[in-house]
Amino acid sequence: VIRAMTHHDMIYFDNAASTPVLSAVIQEMIPYLGDHYGNPSSQHVFGFKSSRALDEARRQVAYLIGSSPNEITFTSGGTEANNLAIKGAVSKLDGNNNGRKVVLISSSIEHESVLESIDSLKTLGFDVISVPVNREGIVEPELLLKILEREKVALVSIMLANNEVGTIQPIKELARITHQYSRALIHCDAVQALGKIPIDVKYLDVDLLSLSSHKIHGPKGIGALYIRDRKQLKPLIDGGGQENSLRSGTENVHGIVGFGKACEIASVNLTERNRDIKILRDYLILRVTSTISECNVNGSIDQRLPNNAHFSFLGVKGEDIIIKLNEYWTAASTGAACSSNKNKPSHVLKAMGLSLPEIEGSLRITLGHQNTKFEVDRAVDVLVEIIKELRRFSGSTKH
Ligand SMILES: Cc1ncc(COP(=O)(O)O)c(C=O)c1O
Repeated sequence: VIRAMTHHDMIYFDNAASTPVLSAVIQEMIPYLGDHYGNPSSQHVFGFKSSRALDEARRQVAYLIGSSPNEITFTSGGTEANNLAIKGAVSKLDGNNNGRKVVLISSSIEHESVLESIDSLKTLGFDVISVPVNREGIVEPELLLKILEREKVALVSIMLANNEVGTIQPIKELARITHQYSRALIHCDAVQALGKIPIDVKYLDVDLLSLSSHKIHGPKGIGALYIRDRKQLKPLIDGGGQENSLRSGTENVHGIVGFGKACEIASVNLTERNRDIKILRDYLILRVTSTISECNVNGSIDQRLPNNAHFSFLGVKGEDIIIKLNEYWTAASTGAACSSNKNKPSHVLKAMGLSLPEIEGSLRITLGHQNTKFEVDRAVDVLVEIIKELRRFSGSTKH
């Protein structure tokens, strides 16, 4: 009854922020919140049950990204995976190489957990260089190449897909030039891409890759880092030596089990499911752009996640649209959940060269497998009215 009261009529279009946990995932987790409570490190039947569950989940996660299970380290989520990849890889090094600064590179549109991790390493003497993106929200490999030729680089961190505009970066090419022109490690934040486009770490040739469970219909507070060579990393959390001594602490067994199941489900018919979402997304974009004037779609259309639509409506404020949509039972976002909290203009949209009115009028709609054409139609009808009303209110002549 409570669920019906709160969610029944609500349309959820914020799947880049988080996703509903699948009931098959919940079912898989329940025994590990109940009868199977053993510590996976314990040497008895209870412990064996839990440690076998970890093995199975590790296989399921590894399968989805083409790695081997022993290359997967479970973390508390995408944020910790990014921190471990960046700080763990670099803290074995010295920021000064015989008086010459060593450089860490990221793109200008990374998630805060990457940008802040890299920034924190300046205190160890490293220099930080940000590779710009073009107006389409894509990193151009030649720009990375120029930096690699000029500087001594320890780490390159570039995301596979952006969380605001959904643009997909040419990671295979960026990894190729990183390895060809430097001895740097390449880390890739694949949190948003997981389950939406095929990922193969061997094909991409990356050294480190971050994942998160709650973006793929798994539970929150669990994620993983793919690590090609464990020897190159220093742990952030020391203790009992769990996770091959890379991440101590008793494992979040039920979370890991849920994450594994979500990966297994995501790996089935991945292409077909996402093709259906893309059809719905394209329909949404067409309806919005053909009915609302002064509206741009931000970011590349071709190199883009199948579930992401990102608009700018001139003459209105994104926050006002979100509030109004919420009144009409539709949940969307102006951009990343964390930047909405801070209420400052998105660094991603700024890096893409959008004007302030374009940034202020932005709306992100991210679809999931649960969304229907009926929901898209209803939400667009509401959106058309909301924009009209807000523009009328602000005295704008646009409709
Ligand atoms: C691109 C990207 N990286 C990292 C994260 C952080 O993941 P988590 O919420 O699991 O810490 C997010 C989530 O918002 C994300 O979108």
